[in-house]
Amino acid sequence: MKIPFSPPYIDDNVIQEVTDALESGWITTGPKVKRLEELVCEYTKVPNALGVNSATSGLMLALKWYGIGAGDEVIIPAYTYAATALAVIHVGATPIMVDVGDDFNIALKSIENAITEKTKAIMPVDFAGWPCDYDAINNLVKNKKELFRASHLNQKKLGRIIVISDAAHAIGAQYKRKYIGITSDITVFSFHAVKNVTTAEGGAVCLNLPEPFNNQEEYAFLRCFSLNGQTKDAFTKSKAGGWRYDIIYPGMKINLPDLLAAVGVAQLPLYFSTILGQRKSIFRFYQDYFSTNPWAILPPFQNSDKISSCHLYALRIKDVTEAQRDTIIDKISKAGVAVNVHFQPLPLLSLFKSYGYKIEDYPNAYNNYKAEISLPIYPQLTQEELDYIVSTISNAVESTL
Ligand SMILES: Cc1ncc(COP(=O)(O)O)c(C=O)c1O
Repeated sequence: MKIPFSPPYIDDNVIQEVTDALESGWITTGPKVKRLEELVCEYTKVPNALGVNSATSGLMLALKWYGIGAGDEVIIPAYTYAATALAVIHVGATPIMVDVGDDFNIALKSIENAITEKTKAIMPVDFAGWPCDYDAINNLVKNKKELFRASHLNQKKLGRIIVISDAAHAIGAQYKRKYIGITSDITVFSFHAVKNVTTAEGGAVCLNLPEPFNNQEEYAFLRCFSLNGQTKDAFTKSKAGGWRYDIIYPGMKINLPDLLAAVGVAQLPLYFSTILGQRKSIFRFYQDYFSTNPWAILPPFQNSDKISSCHLYALRIKDVTEAQRDTIIDKISKAGVAVNVHFQPLPLLSLFKSYGYKIEDYPNAYNNYKAEISLPIYPQLTQEELDYIVSTISNAVESTL
C-alpha cells in the first residue's frame, strides 16, 4: 500500500469554481478573492480578512503595519516553521526565540521572561491546530504596558505589545468557544497546498483590532498596501475609463489571484460542514488506537477550553532517541506510508545556528522534536488505509525500541 502524507482535497466543486474563474475573463485579484474573504469572516466571525499570497507575506504585512523594524524584538516559539522567524527577519527586526511546553506551543513563562522594552510583538503559533493560551497571552501584554515604548502611530494607538497569531495550521480550531481569528489582535491563516483549507498558495490576514482602531479602515489600507500601495486594483483599473491611479504607500506585492482563491471558495464551506469533522474522526481513531500502546504520547485534541483543527497528528514515542525515531521513520517509509516530522526546531537549522541560536537553550523543543512523527490525516483516507497506518507504526516502533 502507498499512502501519501497530505494530498489536496479537489472535488467537482473546486474544479467548477476554478473553471468559472478561468472562463470569467478575470484571473488575478477580484471577485473570487472578495468572496473568499467574506467566507473567512462568515465562518470565523472575524471583522475583516484580507487575502494574501502566503501566510509568510501576511505575517510580514502585519509586522510592517505595526511599524516593526530594525531594533525591535518579536517573541516567537523555537518550535515552528522557519516562516515565523523569517517574517520577522524580513522586516529588519530580531526574532527572540523562546521554548515551548509539552503541548508543543509557546510557554507563557518563557514569553514573560523574554519581554523587554524592545518587544513590539508576540507571535504565538497554534501548533498542529492546537490553540495557544490566548487569555493568558492577551492578559500578559496588557499587564506589561508600562514597559512598552511606542515608535509608530499604530503602536501609540494600541499602547502595548501586539499579539499576531501565526495560525497557519489553525483555521477551524476553537478557543473558549470562539474560532481562532477573534482570539488575538491579528491572526494569519495559511492556505498552502498541505493546509486544512487550500488555495495552492495563499493566506488570510484577519483583523480583530480593539478600539480606537476601525478594522474596516485598516483592511482598506492593507488591501492597498498589499497591491504596491496603488490606489486602484487591476480589476478596477481594467474597467473603461478607470486607467488613472496613484501610488500612495511603499507597498508590497503580495495579493492573492482569483484563480487560486477559487479553490478556497469551493473548499471553505465544505471544510466547516464536513471535512473538519472528518479530520476529527481520524484524529479520534488514532487517539483510541495509540492510547492502548504504553510507548505512545498522544497529541492534544480537546479540553474544556480548546478544540484542535486537527491539522497534524503529532504522535510522540516515549523514551526514544533521535536516532531511534529516525530508524522508525525509515521502517514506516519502506512500508509505503509517508510520514513527516513537525518541526525541526529553528535552532537546529543552519541559518539560525549561524545567527547564534543554540538548541541547548530550548530543551523542550528538542525533546518534542526527537520523539515526534506526524501521521497522515485527511478525509480521503479509507478505514483500510488507517488500519494499515497504525499497524505499520506499531510494528516499526516495537521492532526498534
Ligand atoms: C507554523 C507555520 N507558519 C507559517 C507557515 C507559512 O505558510 P505559507 O506557506 O502560507 O507562507 C507555515 C507553513 O507551513 C507554518 O507551518
